Amino acid sequence: MQEVVQAGRPAPDRALRPRRFLLRTFGCQMNAHDSEKVESLLLHHGYLPAAGPSDADLWIVNTCSIREKAEHRLYTDLGLLRAWKAEAPGRVVGVGGCVAQQQGDALLARFPQLDFVFGTHNLRLVPALAEAAAAGARAARTEETRSLDRFDLPARHPSLEGRGPGRAYLTVMEGCDMFCSFCIVPSTRGRELSRPAAAIVAEAEALAARGVRELLLLGQTVNAYGRHASRRGRSDAEGTVPFASLLRQLARIPGIDRLRYLSPHPVFFDDDLVAAHGDLGALCPHVHLPVQSGSDAILAAMRRRYGRDEYLALVTRLRSARPDVALTTDVIVGFPGESDADFEDTLALVREVAFVDAYTFKYSPRPGTSAADRTDTVPETVKQARLEALQELLRGLTLAAHRARVGDTADVLLEGTSRRGDQPSGRDPYHRVVNLVPGSPGSPGDMVAVRIVDATPHSLIGEPCPPLAPPFAHPH
Ligand code: SAH
Ligand code: SF4
Ligand code: F3S
Repeated sequence: MQEVVQAGRPAPDRALRPRRFLLRTFGCQMNAHDSEKVESLLLHHGYLPAAGPSDADLWIVNTCSIREKAEHRLYTDLGLLRAWKAEAPGRVVGVGGCVAQQQGDALLARFPQLDFVFGTHNLRLVPALAEAAAAGARAARTEETRSLDRFDLPARHPSLEGRGPGRAYLTVMEGCDMFCSFCIVPSTRGRELSRPAAAIVAEAEALAARGVRELLLLGQTVNAYGRHASRRGRSDAEGTVPFASLLRQLARIPGIDRLRYLSPHPVFFDDDLVAAHGDLGALCPHVHLPVQSGSDAILAAMRRRYGRDEYLALVTRLRSARPDVALTTDVIVGFPGESDADFEDTLALVREVAFVDAYTFKYSPRPGTSAADRTDTVPETVKQARLEALQELLRGLTLAAHRARVGDTADVLLEGTSRRGDQPSGRDPYHRVVNLVPGSPGSPGDMVAVRIVDATPHSLIGEPCPPLAPPFAHPH
């Protein structure tokens, strides 16, 4: 395979008509960032982005298997791709991501329209796999590697400049060793592996030099970064520092105004990380802190390694360090054995913490996870009713949090325009969406100071301040 990797440059006959790719991504930010890496690799190998399906020679789907529904999206796509592939000779279909990692060869065997499969540790093989597939060779490469090499990809291709200006993802660690009983991620992303701090800082400096102002540090359990360093002789923690020290190093880089991280696990908040929220100006006052359940019995069955009181104590610690910190979370309803009383505990915890927002999920059994064997499942109708009750509670909390912001000032890093299309739109430091009043100037990547003048259930409305025109009347 090594030779194929070496030969993975556009063949001379391609020079006339460079091959064009489309990439479709499901799943979390880590997957979105993996897609960016694949895109960059393809561009470095002479591919160009396709304008649409009829123009594309290579179609890649980057998959997610966190819940059954996510996995099924791949099968729907593959149905459509069979027709796409039949429309013109030489078209190539590749599948990567978490479903690919789990199923590997089995996907090739099941779907004849599929040409190649690449796992979550094998992104760098994509150009070579695509080239080989164009020459008729089908292959699946899903081996797990513990080598740090997988982080050393070529710098983001210049033609990706300007995409999401001002903000960038930055991988600090990958994998998960927590094995929560419901979760497939430890088997799709492999063991925890942390990048050396120097490599992360160098990448951050390069991003800052290109105008990036906000870094989102990524890892499946991002604040477990470097934790294996304390185990003697573990080469997978080479050159790491404690996570809070990494944040401190990154916050010193000129031009980096905002640091965020995703997804932290509640058990890895040491005192220094909590303190960093109080004394690091660049660290955003927003923490996404997945709780999953408010019931001790369910948390234990989920193998989350914290109880309700420990979670609430962490919330208190974070709020002592940074009183205005906005907390968001993930909640699963209908985990096997979840009683009405357990669910009430979840509602009570959500109310007590007053999360600003949350991702809410119905439990979905994942083959191979320990919870999948349980027979005390919660009926679908009960799951649905609990999901709706939880979402109703959260709608009220989000709106209340938004209303409390009216009158505040905030810096908004613009990303694009509002859904209506006439308002520049971005995020404030609390990660809330702020749409500027219609007609406000501003381009993606700009940092704009605004006064919050109105709140809706989904976003805030901001007026650039000081106002460009004499202040006009508002309902508030
Ligand atoms: N590493 C993160 C979570 C990554 S998965 C953490 O530890 O918090 C994102 C979210 O998907 C999880 O927080 C959980 O709420 C949800 N999830 C994971 N597995 C699930 C399953 N089997 N059914 C329903 N939701 C699930
Ligand atoms: Fe999944 Fe738990 Fe790991 Fe998060 S910490 S990725 S929920 S196993
Ligand atoms: Fe999905 Fe894999 Fe992310 S399962 S949520 S794409 S780590």
